Amino acid sequence: MTIQRILVADDEESIRWVLSKSLKKQGFDVDLAEDGSQASSMAQQHKYDLAILDIKMPGINGLELLKQFRTNYPETIIIIMTAEATMQHAVLAIKNGAYDYLTKPFDLTALDAIIVKAEKAAELTGEIGHLKEELQDHYSFGRSIIGNSQPMQEIYKTLGRIANADVTVLVTGESGTGKELVARAIHVNSSRVSKPFIALNCAAIPHELLETELFGHERGAFTGATERKTGKFEQADGGTLFLDEIGDMPLELQAKLLRVLQEKEITRTGGNHTIQVNVRIVAATNQDITTLVREKKFREDLFYRLNVVPIKLPALRDRCDDIPLLADFFLQKSRQDLGIDTMEFSPETLNLFKSYGWPGNVRELENTIKRATLLSPDQVLTPTDFPDLTSNNHKKQDESLEKLVARKLENSLAQMNLQEMNNLYEMVLHQVERPLINIVLKNTRGNQIKTAEVLGINRNTLRKKIKILNIKVKRGGE
Ligand SMILES: Nc1ncnc2c1ncn2[C@@H]1O[C@H](COP(=O)(O)OP(=O)(O)OP(=O)(O)O)[C@@H](O)[C@H]1O
Ligand SMILES: [Mg+2]
Repeated sequence: MTIQRILVADDEESIRWVLSKSLKKQGFDVDLAEDGSQASSMAQQHKYDLAILDIKMPGINGLELLKQFRTNYPETIIIIMTAEATMQHAVLAIKNGAYDYLTKPFDLTALDAIIVKAEKAAELTGEIGHLKEELQDHYSFGRSIIGNSQPMQEIYKTLGRIANADVTVLVTGESGTGKELVARAIHVNSSRVSKPFIALNCAAIPHELLETELFGHERGAFTGATERKTGKFEQADGGTLFLDEIGDMPLELQAKLLRVLQEKEITRTGGNHTIQVNVRIVAATNQDITTLVREKKFREDLFYRLNVVPIKLPALRDRCDDIPLLADFFLQKSRQDLGIDTMEFSPETLNLFKSYGWPGNVRELENTIKRATLLSPDQVLTPTDFPDLTSNNHKKQDESLEKLVARKLENSLAQMNLQEMNNLYEMVLHQVERPLINIVLKNTRGNQIKTAEVLGINRNTLRKKIKILNIKVKRGGE
């Protein structure tokens, strides 16, 4: 919102005149009221972005007017003018919801400065309001979490059941399956929605810093702790704390976390008093946490504590039915972002999407579509617009090795005069064969029978190659 229409209410004609002249010169629409009741009736007829009200007017005074505005037109920004620079007046004005106040006589530049500030604030409030709406919208179930497949229906049911219960949730699933999205959805649909959602990625923060990130520290708790710092637990008070990649939390910290969850209170590092916290925990991991528990890398008691409600997100390849829906969703999104009018998938493309394995799940699908919409000049996206998916899906690693070799080859051959060579083929192959055979020999500790088997060549062939390539075989792999 920007400020366009301004109401000025003052019983002093000179003030009305000066303000109106200055504001009109700056391009605002200005209405003038001689007293409170006139201002009040004008406000019924027009929507004012800003009202500048004198505090002392006959009839309805500025403060009363201010209250009227706050209840009836809460979006109007109010500036109060007063002849006395008393704190009482100022406090009263601000307490009753005025944006700022001015003491008469004032410099017009002071008013301008306030208007500029107010305009920015108005924009921000507008944006925040808008963002909030968007967020609500975005995270209402069935909207942003796309998918109607059976496994997703089950997830929605669980989400609905638990959103308002304060239970701890453990979200698992491969990378890119939407764990964070689900965590946010749980928060937005819970009674904690007006309180913060705080996320902490346990894998992204060095182990030694994780503890203070979680619980904060007092000033002087350790060298470098020049300020007191509140941790994520305190920041999330009343809201939801999302502990992402929980499988990466060091064991020792797991013990502390467990205690905090049981006692619902924390102690800042270096502090000696406990602080009550009311936080709902949603944890996530893409590791197989039961294996971590078996390997004693994750505390069993903490696992049970977190896993009150488990939500396991399906891999995208296990809900192929949702792929066209998701693909369309991301296409619309990209089109909007890029300002493209029309663009669609050919039926072959959708089939390709369905048959591809999507190791990076929804995130990979999203990025793939973003890239294609950006790069393709055509209105219909065909499989050729998705080279990464068409070239042998399952041999991704070979493919990148091939690319690597190609780049190397190109570089080294660029130094040679190719036309003068006569045994290039053999030369290059030897350069690949020698390291390859060496690697396998080392791996099999010099066992030639096993090496031939791994390479898939005849034992005699291997022996010959070892001789020709002048490879030294070390027995026992020393
Ligand atoms: N069901 C879905 N509907 C719409 N968008 C989705 C869905 N699932 C995931 N996404 C999108 O895919 C991307 C990855 O999701 P998210 O970050 O939640 O995955 P993640 O499981 O936390 O991944 P990681 O394990 O790598 O952290 C996000 O942009 C998210 O909005
Ligand atoms: Mg994530």
